[in-house]
Amino acid sequence: MNTPILNEIDRMKKKKYTNFHMPGHKGLNSLIDWSEYIPFGDLTEVGNLDNLQAPVGIIKESQEFASKIFKSKETIYSINGTTGGIYIGLGGLTNPGDTVLVQRNSHKSIYNSCILNRLNIEYLYPKIENNILTTINPEDIEKKLITNPDIKVVILTSPNYYGIVQNIGEISKIVRKYNRYLMVDEAHGSHFVFSDRLPKSSLEYNADIVIQSTHKTLPSFTQSSMVHIGSDRVDINRIREFSNLYQSTSPSYLLMLSLEIATNYMANEGRIKLNENIDIIEKYIKELENIEGLHIYNNDNKDITKILFSIDGYTGKELEELLYVENIFLEMSDLHYGLALSTVMNRRVDFEILFNKLKDIATNRDKYKIAKNFHIDNIHTMEESIYPIYKAFYMNSELVELDFSVNKISKSYITPYPPGVPLLVPGERITSDILKDIKNKKKLGFYILGLVGNDKNYIEVIE
Ligand SMILES: Cc1ncc(COP(=O)(O)O)c(C=O)c1O
Repeated sequence: MNTPILNEIDRMKKKKYTNFHMPGHKGLNSLIDWSEYIPFGDLTEVGNLDNLQAPVGIIKESQEFASKIFKSKETIYSINGTTGGIYIGLGGLTNPGDTVLVQRNSHKSIYNSCILNRLNIEYLYPKIENNILTTINPEDIEKKLITNPDIKVVILTSPNYYGIVQNIGEISKIVRKYNRYLMVDEAHGSHFVFSDRLPKSSLEYNADIVIQSTHKTLPSFTQSSMVHIGSDRVDINRIREFSNLYQSTSPSYLLMLSLEIATNYMANEGRIKLNENIDIIEKYIKELENIEGLHIYNNDNKDITKILFSIDGYTGKELEELLYVENIFLEMSDLHYGLALSTVMNRRVDFEILFNKLKDIATNRDKYKIAKNFHIDNIHTMEESIYPIYKAFYMNSELVELDFSVNKISKSYITPYPPGVPLLVPGERITSDILKDIKNKKKLGFYILGLVGNDKNYIEVIE
């Protein structure tokens, strides 16, 4: 048998590690016993199974229930993740040649969507606070809307990967005042509507379209997401047309079922479980606040279920490695922070294991030696856009060695994972600062998508 994927999954299964990463189901059953439905529930459009491309029966009913629970005007299941949901939303709101106002630290799927829909991009820049990219100033958005009447859609990411939300209430008012659309990438915020101790979902502020990766923070399967229409200003038929354009004509019933199950679970006991988990996290934050050198980042603009921490003297990457050795798997880390993504499916014991280990590292440093030294300066770079992304994407290219790439124009995305935010998008100049940043991230052990060659020493540039 040649089954490398199966072998690795089997190996992870035996490991029995503490799970603080996606997907939100954490490998556990919620509401139904999945072993009874896999593979049987993997069906196609026969009998009364309806059709996601034109739902009139059970899929329509299921989506309507989701719409009620998530408080949208209408909800469409995306079995192509939030990536597909973003293509659908932006396609439905724009025409080729339109301009969109985008956060520079957006996920790659937003840039891809601008290629697919032939959109020009104007940028917004978030503040940097405590070494994290945080909020956009609503006034910056207003200025852009006044000076550029071509902007049709404002696209924001809220919360971001770190769990920090934008001031969507105020921004939504501004966007409406100037009669533009607001689309929110809420990939990390599907759980918000289930607790008033979390930030509010953008749907509560009438954002026009909100896309959520249900699979990230709720117990549904990877690739299952929802596109929510949040206002009456959106042409729903157009969104449906784009859903049919970007979704498979054989949508997975297992993914759709998992969305339905996650919604029902959360509408009932999941809601209680979420609040219990918030109690546990709050208790630990309080208990650990006096441990010297241990910091757990928390404030009103932040989703507390994303546990963002640092320990003086260690980089986030080092902490991730130390925890990995102890069988605690994080969602991600960077130069400064480690991020543990908790969901309703995490149990009390998971939090005990994580927080006790953090306490132990902070108080018994001699025990926790670092194998590699990851201390490198953080660099915040600015892009220099030379060609519109959708033109650059189709231009002729050549490969050059990274060391000789300064001042050339990138043909590809250079994207460290996680969080999947590109350092370079097609059509941008490779400045010496950006090159330094790429090299630093390589050294830190980031997986960088877009670099070429066995040692990832080459980059594709425009000829
Ligand atoms: C902010 C953000 N938006 C969009 C996406 C894409 O979501 P999906 O994986 O559901 O396609 C991600 C994935 O990590 C993300 O972090």
